[in-house]
Amino acid sequence: MKATAIAHPNIAVVKYWGKRNVTLNLPAVPSISVTLDQFITETTVEWGAHRDILILNGKENTAVAQRVFGFLNQFDPNRPYCRVKTQNNFPTAAGLASSASAFAALTLAATKAAQKDLTIQQQSTIARMGSGSACRSLWGGWVEWKMGERQDGLDSHGVPLAAQDHWDIRIIVVVLQDGPKPIGSTKGMIQTQQTSPLYPGWVESAPADVEIARESIRNRDLVKLGTVMEHSTLKMHGTMFATVPPIRYLKPGSFSVIEQVEKLRLNGLSCYYTMDAGPNVKILCPASESDLIVEQVMPFAKHVHVLNVGNDACII
Ligand code: DP6
Repeated sequence: MKATAIAHPNIAVVKYWGKRNVTLNLPAVPSISVTLDQFITETTVEWGAHRDILILNGKENTAVAQRVFGFLNQFDPNRPYCRVKTQNNFPTAAGLASSASAFAALTLAATKAAQKDLTIQQQSTIARMGSGSACRSLWGGWVEWKMGERQDGLDSHGVPLAAQDHWDIRIIVVVLQDGPKPIGSTKGMIQTQQTSPLYPGWVESAPADVEIARESIRNRDLVKLGTVMEHSTLKMHGTMFATVPPIRYLKPGSFSVIEQVEKLRLNGLSCYYTMDAGPNVKILCPASESDLIVEQVMPFAKHVHVLNVGNDACII
């Protein structure tokens, strides 16, 4: 059987950083994200092939093959060999978590190809095992990742909060730099929780941020959402700074964009910043103000992408 799925990446407005169980990939904090339109991962899974083979962006890839085929064992430990073909229509240089859309699309396609009868929620739980943020990319719009309480992690998955058309907002991706991250998210999180003295405060304060974000999304309150989003991202990066050795994803250019966003806000625009495991800055703003904001951040950037809120992942 063969099936193809598409999924979009997402950007967290309240961040996931830290694991309470590394093996099951269970988070130490709840998080909320917005799914991005325009950027797409398309993945075809062929359940039954002459060997396990991964074709990534047109070329056979062995570097991430083990992660992909180990992930497929979750569907069936005695599965046949599989052929996985996947491609992103967005530049990896955009600094977007492509693992989120990758594992969301892979989960949907593999479920269908293996003829498993699973709810989207169950598929979100499976996607989480590939990459935590992937469990939020099954849905469009605004999605919360509930931490869950169960030891087996079956209640730790995405929950849709609001659909794509709930709020006409833009996400401006300000690309400052390409190139590989100094340290991957998984390793970075483990290092942070083992050594940062700020980590307990980060974990303790996250649920309150999620409450505020959930309510501000419901009320389409950009000031409130933007304020808690900036607080969450700065707390996450601050906690990483205090790690031994320090984890610093932000670069001087990131701070220049932050200052520019704050300046634009003083001039009456409604724009708010957030950064993930890299130096690039994402800005949330009303659709009506995006042109003006792009013009003002362009001098700092290598490229700028203006994205809408995206839709659900689906089988095509
Ligand atoms: C900073 O989902 O890539 O983007 O579960 O270890 O694969 P793993 O981590 P990943 O981490 C994303 C971290 C983040 C914040 C977020 O997306 O919530």
